[in-house]
Amino acid sequence: MPKEAFTSKAIAITLVVLTISAIAGIITMTILFEVQTSNLNMTARPTWVPTTPGPPPDMRLPKNLIPDSYEISIQPFLHIELPEGINGSITNQSLVFTGNSTVYFHCVKRTNTIYLQSKNLEVFGGLLMNTKTREMIKVLKMMHHNDQSDFLEMPLDNALEVGGNYSLYLSFTGEISENLEALFVSTYQEGDPATEDDTGRQRFLAATNLEPTSARRVFPCFDEPDFKAVFHVTIVHRIGTTVLGNAAKKGSQTIDDEWEMTEFFPTKKMSTYLFAFTVSDFTSISTPYDNVEINTYARPEATAAHYSQYAATVTGDILRFYEGFFEISYQQNSLDQIALPDLEVAAMENWGLITYQEGNLLFEEGVSSLLHKEQIVTIIAHELAHQWFGNLVTMNWWNNIWLNEGFATYMSFLAADSVEPTFKIKELSILFNLHSAFEQDSLVSSHPLSPPAKDVQTTLEIDQMFDVITYCKGAAVLRMLENMVGESTFKKGIKRYLSDFMFQNTEPSDLWRYLQKAVDDDNGNAKVAEVMDSWTKQIGYPVVTINTNNGVINQKHFLFNDSSESSLLWQVPVTYMTEISKPKPGLYPLEKKSGQSSVFVSKDGEWLLANINCTGYYRVNYNLENWQRLLNQLETDQSMIPLMNRGQLIDDAFNLARAKLVDVTLALNSTRFLQNETEYIPWESAVRNLEYFVLMFDRSEVFGPMQEYLQIQVTNLYNHYKNETGFTKIPRDPTSQRSQVTAVWYACSNGLPDCVKMASGMYATWMHNITNPEYDKPGNISGTNTTEPPILEVNVTSIIPNLRSVIYCQAVAAGGKKEWEFAWKMYQTTSDTSEKDHLRKALSCTKKTWLLNRYLEYTLDPEKIRLMDVASSITDVARNVAGQALAWNFIRAHWDYVSQDGGPYLINEVTKRFSNQFELEELERFRTDYDLGPAARAVDQAIEQTRVNIEWVKEHKDIVLNWFEDVIPRRV
Ligand SMILES: *[C@@H]1O[C@H](CO)[C@@H](O)[C@H](O)[C@H]1NC(C)=O
Ligand SMILES: *[C@@H]1O[C@H](CO)[C@@H](O)[C@H](O)[C@H]1NC(C)=O
Ligand SMILES: *[C@@H]1O[C@H](CO)[C@@H](O)[C@H](O)[C@H]1NC(C)=O
Ligand SMILES: [Zn+2]
Repeated sequence: MPKEAFTSKAIAITLVVLTISAIAGIITMTILFEVQTSNLNMTARPTWVPTTPGPPPDMRLPKNLIPDSYEISIQPFLHIELPEGINGSITNQSLVFTGNSTVYFHCVKRTNTIYLQSKNLEVFGGLLMNTKTREMIKVLKMMHHNDQSDFLEMPLDNALEVGGNYSLYLSFTGEISENLEALFVSTYQEGDPATEDDTGRQRFLAATNLEPTSARRVFPCFDEPDFKAVFHVTIVHRIGTTVLGNAAKKGSQTIDDEWEMTEFFPTKKMSTYLFAFTVSDFTSISTPYDNVEINTYARPEATAAHYSQYAATVTGDILRFYEGFFEISYQQNSLDQIALPDLEVAAMENWGLITYQEGNLLFEEGVSSLLHKEQIVTIIAHELAHQWFGNLVTMNWWNNIWLNEGFATYMSFLAADSVEPTFKIKELSILFNLHSAFEQDSLVSSHPLSPPAKDVQTTLEIDQMFDVITYCKGAAVLRMLENMVGESTFKKGIKRYLSDFMFQNTEPSDLWRYLQKAVDDDNGNAKVAEVMDSWTKQIGYPVVTINTNNGVINQKHFLFNDSSESSLLWQVPVTYMTEISKPKPGLYPLEKKSGQSSVFVSKDGEWLLANINCTGYYRVNYNLENWQRLLNQLETDQSMIPLMNRGQLIDDAFNLARAKLVDVTLALNSTRFLQNETEYIPWESAVRNLEYFVLMFDRSEVFGPMQEYLQIQVTNLYNHYKNETGFTKIPRDPTSQRSQVTAVWYACSNGLPDCVKMASGMYATWMHNITNPEYDKPGNISGTNTTEPPILEVNVTSIIPNLRSVIYCQAVAAGGKKEWEFAWKMYQTTSDTSEKDHLRKALSCTKKTWLLNRYLEYTLDPEKIRLMDVASSITDVARNVAGQALAWNFIRAHWDYVSQDGGPYLINEVTKRFSNQFELEELERFRTDYDLGPAARAVDQAIEQTRVNIEWVKEHKDIVLNWFEDVIPRRV
């Protein structure tokens, strides 16, 4: 994350637009500031002797003082709309806030120093009182630690005694961030999305984003997750603006003709990182619900156009699901959700005020695609799950953040499945969670779910914990645990865990203890802690190898780079079935390195399949005969193999090949049955795995024959949907909708001529209709003397939403300047977020390097590409083989700017194709020459991955080329 020092710039700028009364406030503040400065210069009294030795050795607050509650007042000076006559640019804004806080705390260990955390704030005051005796205790000085602890150290002239209750008053001023950090400003254009009118004025809003360690940038506090407290909040805001906080509003009162003060009810006891407020001109719709008021806020235009309706509806359904599942009601007295034009993360679960990037909450019927609905329902389900896992019961420290994120991710699939069962989200989770986690966790640079607390101290280290391992592996091992102990036992255990630890903090062992109790009550025999520790405390995961000739089974740490020796062992619940024992799977707990059992011996040449429905977090390898039987089954009648396993067999085969545990031709052979497959999961699994082949070979002579084979494989799927839908109709079943999209993507991107023609035709018709609205009606097209040729082969006026992304991209790829500029124009004018995303993606699809270069330059201008979209725009360009080198040069030239929006993500994506010595050297130079901040680990991973790629290409190129040349039918 970018670091910016506090300056007084904002105060100077403020004067431009502040009214007299506000200026008076600033003047008082400035005087206070001067008083404070002189205090800061005061040297320590030589007589002062600490009773507690210095600051704590790590970055953690000492546990002498425990906060109970805060009273906080904050006044952001931002204008929601700049006064008439002032240019709507952000340089004319008042990016400053002032505030004061009283923290009430008690002492559990004698001390004469108070430590709080505070960052980028000017802090004044320091009035400390013993709340029982009303005695004041002198704060001798305030010292900001000049290191990553962000400590604000306050030595006292008297010790605080065990059992004493105290209050500390401080006032402070800070700057509203322009980089989406802490308390930040976001902008948007007022306008009516229906008419795509963007002539409206610039609007502003203030919002917070505090996880993990930014609460200290809004008010000085005990900013660690296990210092929970009650918050009494008052926000002073401009008259007529809408202010939202964690709790419901208690009352508002007008201060003068410019300011108004809103007081909130006290929150429940909660961690500082969940604190939130927003000031905006947003409007809302409400969701009818029994015991809590639910409101969904968005830009007034978006609310009026009902874009938040879908979110509002499913939110009630999801909340009902969780209240039923956990049997604990939602605890805060209001639930607000707000769609922000800018937010650094996809969404943030602040208790009672959940913030979302607009695109993750707003849905436009008839314009947004079904896939977008899936995204919305899954993200809302994730954030609402946090209201229990995270907000009500919180991990004790950031090294265990997977307890929050793994659970929220896992629960989100259950909840989303219950409110939208046709989406089949639980099945899809193997692609989105399991496979994503496997990918990262196959590298030696991965990390355990729960690393030791001492390894996670600084904000940088904490930030790095929010990764695929934490979210996806966390969810996957919970799914495995649920399958191991059984659904009802699992539910029983977590219900008791949540109700016993309400408003407290936990670590994984607490959860294991509660689940063990549930297992014992239900007469189970699983040893929860023993099993789970092997998955949460160790890095990586195993590959289980079964030999069906002799029944021998063994496990070994799965790594792409197999030269790294590892002796780690896991407690693996191995489920299996055979051709004959289907459909009743068995379970074999593998606790040692290896074992042998007759259940794994093949009878009469039947196949055996392990890890049924991929509930286990492990891969499976077999003897070659069994592999061939399984692949044979797939090619003759794939329905005998459960759907999720059809995807898994492909994923395992490809990854085992990557780790050199099976021949690469076995992996390629596992894609042959796709010729007759129309289900989404196996196709998507293949597409993702072949992506590696595409990336490694799309700059080489392998690419031609490979494309030819893939065209042949996808033709049936493409024709299936062409016949069924003509690509102008939407299949009823949501998973078929996904397959329809895959059919077009894969057919077009592998150059199937019929597909490219279809996409270009639809796009041309759309362009034509927009630029010549008078010819909107079909039948009017021919015979007119337009400069564009009439398009007759495709007879649609509007492309179906699911296919827009692929049609736009393919048409821009096949087209030239005209197609690109049209997409750019539409991107700038549309205010629908998903339409904007499709168009933005399409901009990266052109094959013309000059257009790609110009587009990359646009990412430096926030008026053209929003900061939150910078990283994904650049990685889109890198995905395109024509843009690979351009994107890599570009991020190095503009690292400081572009890395603000997710440096690690940029590195992961832009280096994906790296597979030669030259690229490796450039990457190593980048590692030493640049200040990489949180992206340093990503660069290390990229270096490791590039080495693996170089080796892989060297070893496989000829074999792969031969395989493709052999399987494509000879043409005469
Ligand atoms: C704290 O700030 C609020 C809002 O600006 C103000 O009304 C209140 O008087 C302040 N409290 C103190 C003790 O100065
Ligand atoms: C596997 O998942 C399917 C749904 O995709 C389900 O119908 C089936 O019962 C599951 N099998 C097992 C053994 O859990
Ligand atoms: C892949 O299939 C080909 C053709 O059927 C076969 O010759 C080859 O042995 C297979 N490879 C493996 C590893 O099974
Ligand atoms: Zn989360």
